[in-house]
Amino acid sequence: MATTISSFLHEDMISLRGNTLLAMFESYNLNTSTLLLYAVITFITLGVLTWTLSCPGGPAWKRGRNCIGFVSIPSPKGLPIFGSLLGLAHGLPHRTLASMAQTSQAASQLMAISLGSTPTVVASDPQTAREILTSQHFANRPIKQSARLLMFNRAIGFAPNGTYWRLLRKIASSHLFAPRKISAHEPARSLECTSMLNDITTEQSLHGFVVLRKHLQAASLNNIMEIVFGKSYNKVGDVDESMELQEMVREGFELLGAFNWSDHLPWLNYFYDPFHIKERCMALVPQVKKFIKKIINEHKLRGSVNLLDDSDFVDVLLSLDGQDNLSEDDMVAILWEMVFRGTDTIALLTEWVMAELTLNQGIQSKLRFEIDSFMGNKSTNNDYADITKLPYLQAVIKETLRLHPPGPLLSWARLSTSDVHLSNGMVIPANTTAMVNMWSITHNSDVWDHPFTFEPDRFLISAGGSNVDVRGNDLRLAPFGAGRRVCPGMNLGMVTVSEWVAKLVYQFEWVQDMGRPVDLTEELKLSCEMKQPLCAKVIPRNGASEMM
Ligand code: HEM
Repeated sequence: MATTISSFLHEDMISLRGNTLLAMFESYNLNTSTLLLYAVITFITLGVLTWTLSCPGGPAWKRGRNCIGFVSIPSPKGLPIFGSLLGLAHGLPHRTLASMAQTSQAASQLMAISLGSTPTVVASDPQTAREILTSQHFANRPIKQSARLLMFNRAIGFAPNGTYWRLLRKIASSHLFAPRKISAHEPARSLECTSMLNDITTEQSLHGFVVLRKHLQAASLNNIMEIVFGKSYNKVGDVDESMELQEMVREGFELLGAFNWSDHLPWLNYFYDPFHIKERCMALVPQVKKFIKKIINEHKLRGSVNLLDDSDFVDVLLSLDGQDNLSEDDMVAILWEMVFRGTDTIALLTEWVMAELTLNQGIQSKLRFEIDSFMGNKSTNNDYADITKLPYLQAVIKETLRLHPPGPLLSWARLSTSDVHLSNGMVIPANTTAMVNMWSITHNSDVWDHPFTFEPDRFLISAGGSNVDVRGNDLRLAPFGAGRRVCPGMNLGMVTVSEWVAKLVYQFEWVQDMGRPVDLTEELKLSCEMKQPLCAKVIPRNGASEMM
């Protein structure tokens, strides 16, 4: 009996446990499917809500801001609060914007989007780009938080259009970027290049390959230091000071190039700064001030000097008097900007050129033939500086600027100060940020044949091409911008890159290292750079005589 009761109890227990388990299992199943159902419903509701709440152009283009003209500005839908920000914060925004603009011809002319609360227009065709860049109502720039904190609002690039900015441009164009000033600094430029060539030879013999970028960056920094501060670390050899400057420039690049959400969503500033931009800028500025003020004081101690063509920029700024006189803090900002702008752009453009030449051996040989012929003729009255004018060399550099514009969105946008009427009937309202998608223009098959192929001949008149002017007069290829805020350093940039490429090609043959193939993937920071720095094998050319 006892056994029966116990076995009964046991059976009951089992069946009870079984039922509980079943119930649990069923409820678990129910919970999972309920959860899944909820997730799907939430997802769909959010999608529908977002779609419903999304408005043409996004939140910054409400109340028909894009329809002031008799032709309205095409406006892809943008999310509430963020607009198009989420899609553009990562990856390669110039490519994303280019495909957004492809939706219609009108959108390629101009497109209205919201970057958070910032109303923005993007031009992807030469005519609209010209009208924006050359408009007197687009002579200001929107200023990022990092640029303001790093003092750039007192330097040329971000100073608002007005007396101060005009004064700075005048000083820079007559004392820094005038052709005779650029020629006067030629010996220093050449010396930096020779030292770079030696370093490259050493690296090749030590490692069997060369990673070019660091050599170019060191040469550019030294070169600009010589022009701006009259000091080259190649000659002075102060390693600590050079490292300190390199580190400050690197940190500055990172801060200025970083995507800062609070530039477009100002309320985020109070609680979300994942890159610690504010904190890092505040830490960097005193270091920069200390470093540059020390150099200014060294110049002051030397006493006043007679300005010559190769005088450095600190001497120039110290010699200004009367109304042109600048405060020491303003000088720091201007000098810092020049070091900053002159380093990265030149190094990265030269790297792109050398990457294309390494990949395109036929083009490299053709270029070397041109340079060899020039060198063979040097007993004639050829000035070495004339090497920068060689037609094929120019064509190679232009083609690189077309295929890899260093500022694909022209880096620093413009801000409208009043309504701007375009010839196509669209009106851009005052206080709108404008970007020109130069990458989109230079990769448009309506503008360029075979836009994705590296073909320098397209710029060679003798090969049936056309000699396009890249200095802002032809908006099919304006990598230096255009209008009154066009890059003032473009001549210095072009001369330096031309000279260095000529010497790199003359002294070495550049071939791919098959273990580290050339990778042209882009990465957009402050400039658009090669994601994987160029790594190649160089073969010294025994026949190459020393270039001055
Ligand atoms: C290959 C080299 C370079 C490229 C591709 C380049 C590109 C640009 C671009 C696209 C702009 C904006 C133009 C616009 O808004 O229309 C700009 C502005 C500027 N660039 Fe360059 N740049 C180069 C070299 C240099 C150098 C070497 C310096 C000085 C040492 C320099 C100094 C500046 C300054 C100060 C501005 C601001 C001009 C203003 O707002 O008034 N750049 N650059």
